[in-house]
Amino acid sequence: MNMQLPRGTQDILPGDVEVWQYIEKVAAEKCRAYNFEEIRTPIFEHTEVFTRGVGDTTDIVQKEMYTFTDRGDRSLTLRPEGTASVTRAYVNHKLYGSANQPTKLYYTGPMFRYERPQAGRMRQFVQFGVEALGSASPQLDAEVLALLVDICQELGLHHLSLVVNSLGDLESRTAHREALIAHFKPRIGEFCSDCQQRLEKNPLRILDCKKDKDHPLMGTAPSILDYLNEKSKTYFNELKAALDVLGIPYVVDPTLVRGLDYYNHTAFELMSTGEGFGAITTLCGGGRYNGLVEEFGGPDTPGIGFAFSIERIIMAMKAEGAYTPTKPALDCYLVTLGEQAKTQSVKVLHDLRQAGIRADKDYLDKKMKAQLKAADRHEAKFTVILGDDELEAGVANVKQMETGEQDQVALTDLIPTILRGLQKERKQ
Ligand code: HAM
Repeated sequence: MNMQLPRGTQDILPGDVEVWQYIEKVAAEKCRAYNFEEIRTPIFEHTEVFTRGVGDTTDIVQKEMYTFTDRGDRSLTLRPEGTASVTRAYVNHKLYGSANQPTKLYYTGPMFRYERPQAGRMRQFVQFGVEALGSASPQLDAEVLALLVDICQELGLHHLSLVVNSLGDLESRTAHREALIAHFKPRIGEFCSDCQQRLEKNPLRILDCKKDKDHPLMGTAPSILDYLNEKSKTYFNELKAALDVLGIPYVVDPTLVRGLDYYNHTAFELMSTGEGFGAITTLCGGGRYNGLVEEFGGPDTPGIGFAFSIERIIMAMKAEGAYTPTKPALDCYLVTLGEQAKTQSVKVLHDLRQAGIRADKDYLDKKMKAQLKAADRHEAKFTVILGDDELEAGVANVKQMETGEQDQVALTDLIPTILRGLQKERKQ
């Protein structure tokens, strides 16, 4: 019997979950400022969505998918990424028919890849991503990059390096592909079996091989930038010009190819240069995927997007010492003394909560002293002490925990008193 957590997964407990909520909130708020709307898609899809979408020569499809057959004999896959699913939804719901184009969407949720776990590489991880479909303007690429940098900066990340490349259009990529085959073919026997298969199917993937990355032919491989046709060159120049206008610094790296097959024109990664971030420095990846909507049976529609995992963002935030929220303290703890007070306490507590006060009480029949200790452990800002005598007199004792000040207040005035106290504390 194995009751342990599966390898490459994690539980996120109270005390840690607050930083997740915070990142998701900051990212969603930024998305809304850029007029991106949320989309939610299923966690599993028909396997073809990813074999066709992500590409069947990629590591993700060949080695990393969690694929299973359901009771109806369908092949389903836990999503390894979000772009293919969002594109599938865009086509299924004919979102291309809407007059408001581009369609700008964001999403967040768990993704699954059977990878070798290490810091920043999980088998279940949470991606936050955006996709903008329906415009081939390089200004939109720049907007997507501006949004990414904006989210990261809002989260207190400043040691960032944006790396961009162009993979060109189909004509440029075909010319580059021929050059790559000619370059690697004579010595392909020295490469791993995966690369040997990649040579004819998708030679660009060879550049992304982890096993053969130090082979001398890797460093001398033909650069895509030398094979861009005029249209692709112009596109890339316009993107760079838009980034310059926005004042977003970037470096061009012609060896950046990305691990998914759907990209063309713009490809990018945002790296963390923060000290102590760890071996995997990529925070976020993305790019343009102009043929993907057609691949899913929709009209010829361009698209661009990015995704980062919350796991890696947290690592970067910790490495940079950025602000991370902690568990919020309780506003009020209700302590009771006597049977009548205990009976009435549920109603007092309920009323406090209805007024928006985070409140709690004892459910273990603890003595008054132990109840007061519990109030301390919860770091309650106020403790309300209600005994049978007070109840009869229609009053309660309210203690402000930080100052130790204690006042007797009418039960009818309890909620306004605490609300005033909380407001005063917030202002300080
Ligand atoms: P990706 O480069 O495969 O691209 O993943 C994007 C990001 O997801 C990575 O930069 C990293 O932050 C995170 N990530 C990937 N794998 C793991 C893992 N095993 N553990 C933790 N984090 C991980 C995509 O997924 C594309 N769909 C991005 C995109 C959107 N392109 C266009 N639109």
